[in-house]
Amino acid sequence: MLKQAAIGVFDSGLGGVSVLHEIRHLLPAESLIYVADSAYVPYGEKTPAVIVQRSLAISEFLLAQPVKALVVACNTATAAAVNELRQRWPNTLIVGMEPAVKPAVLASKVARVGVLATTGTLRSARFAALLERYAGDVEVITQPCPGLVELIEAGELNSAVTRTLLLSYLQPLLAAGCDTVILGCTHYPLVKPLLRTLLPETVQIIDTGAAVARRLQSELAKKNLLAEQQQPHDLFYASGNVQCVEQTLSSLWFRSETVQALNV
Ligand code: SIN
Repeated sequence: MLKQAAIGVFDSGLGGVSVLHEIRHLLPAESLIYVADSAYVPYGEKTPAVIVQRSLAISEFLLAQPVKALVVACNTATAAAVNELRQRWPNTLIVGMEPAVKPAVLASKVARVGVLATTGTLRSARFAALLERYAGDVEVITQPCPGLVELIEAGELNSAVTRTLLLSYLQPLLAAGCDTVILGCTHYPLVKPLLRTLLPETVQIIDTGAAVARRLQSELAKKNLLAEQQQPHDLFYASGNVQCVEQTLSSLWFRSETVQALNV
């Protein structure tokens, strides 16, 4: 596989752009191909079977470009489909997301951690295994956030509606006395500035985008696949309304990009 091949990244929508920023920051020479499955967003309330089918179709598309690695920049898709993807493409480097339970448990001084994530992620066997492995004596309070992904996809990162919804989701975590909040969905770091204003300063917010970028870097290095001194060339695809995606993408990625239609 060529070092100069791109890295493929996908999400249900534009939440994965929070991970894309971390990858671009750490790996400035890498070309990136991003797929937003915006015709099917949000994944959070869909059945695992639908998410597996979409993840397989998008991965097939990305691997045909070709890409040298796949990043499943979506917690819900990782929980539902990463095992199937690894079974289907055992020789491909596939990096997924997972809520940062281990670092949060280590960081909490009061042994109470909150997790904001989708219903799909919180119900998954992968998340149950994560808690089983790392939570120990720490109390973990989970909070599904229906409706939040849709607001973020609409570019409502700081609106009154988003603020009210976030407050309602933070309330149970604050009432339980959590001092650490995990963002268990790649969309949520996009509203981190707003979240910061709604949480006391003593509450830490933890997400995994930077850790996933570091993992990708180290796995590519192990395989001698890091790009060398190239001018990166990024491509963007979306399965839904391309104009809407272009509009929100420009405010999240801080530059205008052409988004091509994806028909898979
Ligand atoms: C969603 O599409 O509902 C959220 C994606 C994620 O879990 O990161």
